Amino acid sequence: MTGFVDVHSHVVFGVDDGAQSLDHALALVTEARDSGTRLLFATPHVAPPYHNLNASHERIARIRRNCATIIEQAPNGIEVRLGFEVTARPHRLRSDDDVHRFRLAGTELVLIDGPQAVPWIGDSTMERYVRRIRSEGLTPILAHPERRVCWRGDHDYGFAERMKAAGALLQIDASGLTGADGPGCDVEARRLLAEGLIDLIGSDGHGTKSPVRLDVARTMAAEVVGEAAATRMVDGSVLGL
Ligand SMILES: [Fe+2]
Repeated sequence: MTGFVDVHSHVVFGVDDGAQSLDHALALVTEARDSGTRLLFATPHVAPPYHNLNASHERIARIRRNCATIIEQAPNGIEVRLGFEVTARPHRLRSDDDVHRFRLAGTELVLIDGPQAVPWIGDSTMERYVRRIRSEGLTPILAHPERRVCWRGDHDYGFAERMKAAGALLQIDASGLTGADGPGCDVEARRLLAEGLIDLIGSDGHGTKSPVRLDVARTMAAEVVGEAAATRMVDGSVLGL
């Protein structure tokens, strides 16, 4: 199968810091298709209960409604599926918290929000949440590990390796690799690629600084790991998609 599979994007409109209208969402989906993406997972943030990006019944219903509208109106040549980007928190470790509801549709994958620019509410739970997802027979994908060093600047160069050892697939952001996420992210993303730690490239596209496209990042990754390995990071083969 040719074409890219993007496991991380914020094209569901009006539910987080991504697309803000249906028109905006469809423009982003069209850009994804035109740059070679064949399967796009729309992964709105799901954060703790007290946060405005929570997983309340009402908010999840709105996400499902808005995503269904996008799927209905998506241009030919690209499939859009719903997923989530889950922030790790202690309550997500409880046995009665259903991990399966956050799967990327049609898969056994769960996308976990990774490091941010400052100490983040999910930090202390992230590794345990990776293990929890594994224990449920699912595969966790940890987003943007490169930010731990380039945004946080705390020199925790072992972070990505620990998450991988815990059982996560590691997904760098296209906007990290291209430098759109700021100075140093490209350097750190390349270091992680060179060390063989990276499984996937996702756009994490929001439509402003981070476009919903993988083509440029794939080419840049190929400079580090070669054409074949870079292609495997974006073509869905690692995920059986
Ligand atoms: Fe994201």
